[in-house]
Amino acid sequence: MILNQGHAMSHHLLGLEQLSGDEITAILDSAEQFVGVGQGASPKRDDLKGKVIVNLFFEPSTRTRVSFGLAARRLGADTLDFSPSGSSTSKGETFLDTAKNIEAMGIDAVVVRHQSSGAPLLLTRHLAPRVAVVNAGDGAHEHPTQALLDIFTIRQRRGRIAGLTVALVGDILHSRVARSNIHGLTKLGARVIVCGPTTLVPSEVASWGVEVAHRFDDVVPRCDVINLLRVQFERQRGSFFPSVSEYASLFGMSGSRLKRAKPDVLILAPGPINRGVEITPDVADGPNSAILEQVNNGLAVRMAVLKRACVVTQNGQE
Ligand code: NCD
Repeated sequence: MILNQGHAMSHHLLGLEQLSGDEITAILDSAEQFVGVGQGASPKRDDLKGKVIVNLFFEPSTRTRVSFGLAARRLGADTLDFSPSGSSTSKGETFLDTAKNIEAMGIDAVVVRHQSSGAPLLLTRHLAPRVAVVNAGDGAHEHPTQALLDIFTIRQRRGRIAGLTVALVGDILHSRVARSNIHGLTKLGARVIVCGPTTLVPSEVASWGVEVAHRFDDVVPRCDVINLLRVQFERQRGSFFPSVSEYASLFGMSGSRLKRAKPDVLILAPGPINRGVEITPDVADGPNSAILEQVNNGLAVRMAVLKRACVVTQNGQE
């Protein structure tokens, strides 16, 4: 019997840190069936018919918000979009009051993005247990669906994750995408290199099972995958490198660096990309880039995550 069950706490997705490699693989496997659903000749599905899913976004977002909304609707759910401007948050209502009022409308899942690390966890403690909470990015903590879609795209192109060398390049200190990727990739057996200016790589990172490097030119030839992270200027307090042009020349992925990479190196970026900073246009739009595939795969991954969140049985399986 299918239940929308309160006690199945595993229906939340707060981060990849809490998931095992097998649980991550199960989400990726589930996402395979959703690739292309609702696009072209492939019809929508009704896996989430009767479910109500709320997008609760307190930070700007283009891809992630649209992707979650489309994913929910293509599986037949009803969706609500909430953003603080134009809502009572701008009149002083607290985060929890806002969430509890939305919960009172009888919802099944909340997809939350917030500038504070831990906001999704806070919701799980205050909302009714039957409401699933999905983290769409919390501060500099985690962005699990972004990492899942990154890993899905690598697996789709390469057929595996284990044994691959994956570099995460840039602003590791402020990047929730980096943290989620590190957890996911290491659990699936990839070798992860984090590379960035010394000021943007936190000192504890070496204890996360990754290699730390500060010279991108030394790293480039070794990689199967290079994931270029955006410099999170909006989260930085102070100056972490002398100039944007110096950052671009030391850590930007350019055509000349690409010539020194493996011929089939896969180039990823979570977006939004800053052309000419972390990546040059010729690389972003070139044959090694899977940036737009990432966006498309994001829909399938979010369908799998929302289904896992909303549809569980007594033994936690579909
Ligand atoms: C990322 C985010 O918001 O953390 N973007 C996204 O979700 N596509 C990465 C970023 O903002 O650089």
